[in-house]
Amino acid sequence: MDYTMIFILLSISTCFYVLISRSGRDTRLPPGPYPFPIIGNIFKLGNKPHHSLAALSKTYGPLMSLKLGTTTTIVVSSREIVKEFFSKHDVSFSGRSVPYVATAHDHYKHAMGWSQVGDHWRMLRKIYKEHLFAARQLDASHLLRKKKVQQLLDYVHDYSDSGKPVDIGHIASITTLNVLSNFVFSVDLAQYDSQSSQDFMDLVWLLFENAGRPNLADFFPVLRPLDPHGLLRKAKLYTGKLLAIVEEYISKRLQERTATSSSDASSSKDLMDLLLDMSQNEKSSINLVGIRYLVFDLFIAGTETTSSTLEWAMAELINNPEKMSKARSELEEVIRKEDRTFEESDIARLPYLQAVVKETLRLHPPVTFLLPHKATTNVEVQGYIVPKDAQILCNLWAMGQDSNVWPNAQRFEPERFLDVGIDYKGHDFELIPFGTGRRMCPGLPLADRMLHLMLGSLIYKFDWKIKGGMMDMSDKFGMTLQKNLPLMAIPVKV
Ligand code: HEM
Repeated sequence: MDYTMIFILLSISTCFYVLISRSGRDTRLPPGPYPFPIIGNIFKLGNKPHHSLAALSKTYGPLMSLKLGTTTTIVVSSREIVKEFFSKHDVSFSGRSVPYVATAHDHYKHAMGWSQVGDHWRMLRKIYKEHLFAARQLDASHLLRKKKVQQLLDYVHDYSDSGKPVDIGHIASITTLNVLSNFVFSVDLAQYDSQSSQDFMDLVWLLFENAGRPNLADFFPVLRPLDPHGLLRKAKLYTGKLLAIVEEYISKRLQERTATSSSDASSSKDLMDLLLDMSQNEKSSINLVGIRYLVFDLFIAGTETTSSTLEWAMAELINNPEKMSKARSELEEVIRKEDRTFEESDIARLPYLQAVVKETLRLHPPVTFLLPHKATTNVEVQGYIVPKDAQILCNLWAMGQDSNVWPNAQRFEPERFLDVGIDYKGHDFELIPFGTGRRMCPGLPLADRMLHLMLGSLIYKFDWKIKGGMMDMSDKFGMTLQKNLPLMAIPVKV
């Protein structure tokens, strides 16, 4: 990193900043801490921005503005403001603020998560809605998930014989990844005890962690050519490696299709066949490059989020043995009566298990700030102006801690969700771990089934112990919120 160069560029940007701010600073921005010249409020972020911004919101309110270098950032931290943003002004706030690291391998041009609302984004959402996660599609693939969860239980069973601890986040991510890879390619992409699978998951986490790091190149676009922290270089490395893995599977499928002209066969088509068939249609707007990114996004958006939620849910239940017993009793009541294994169709009859998942997502929302939204026009909210191009961060973690909405907010109390009808499907603005409105997570229907199925199966079949009995419950911030130390738990057959 060339500090002299950074200094020169910062000085130039300061002059611009001063000129611009003198010539027309909007005094109707929401309240916020006083911004220092040039850097603004960058140092307020710290290494746990969800905690530091929650603390600042206590002083400046649930609609707050910060200056992060040259970027105006609006932080939203209450149910009421979320409702106003995403039900009244959803169209104006549906843009994406794209971090510099997402330019690695042109990811932002292809990914649904980084695309601006437009034809490309609509095309991708349609594929998700119609071909991936429609209820009929998911119902049809329930046996695949059952099989993958059975393999998970078999693996845990071996550990219960040896008395060794299992890395819960890791086994949950392998299971979720294999469900997704079977959906797409009809193959297992990962094995429980293989180093290459660990490497794959490590790459996904590194990518997320890298993307979540504060980056001077985002705060001062003029610094982009210098890549001051080397984050773009790293993003290129991780993205490149993961894309190469996906590319390998696509090439293999293309060869198989050429050899057997399987594109003509109508039976047993998986998503890859479907996408390749679509790409052969002249009018199709998806081509081979688009397919590569779509699959890449499925794997990275789907695994880390789902597995870290499962890990937190298990950690909370192990930490609260009476809640664990309650959840298990409910499962026994519903299933053992009929002497069979836990099925997806049982979920609707398990309100306590559902409440455990909700409570986990309230306390540990994996995508803590949603993906950063962007205002596409000036919008007046509560008498303040959210200016065009401002970045919008929605602090879900702070909302989950709001004692006006959640009595005993810091306690793990699934009971709070019994008989109240609050859900995370985007209509109850106090609980939006999957977002709300048009940018809401399209993977919710799958994540919902996977979370209940894995959690219910793991606690129905096994009791869980921790070495030493004490557990670290601190978090670490990346693009998703992970447990600081992985949950290593010993399964005991029940
Ligand atoms: C517990 C699991 C999950 C959680 C908590 C979660 C949460 C979220 C959140 C908060 C967003 C951003 C919403 C916004 O910006 O307003 C998002 C976007 C997205 N999620 Fe998920 N997600 C999960 C699982 C999945 C799965 C399983 C997939 C697919 C396999 C997926 C694919 C996506 C995609 C593609 C987007 C971008 C949508 C867009 O920008 O239009 N997610 N997710």
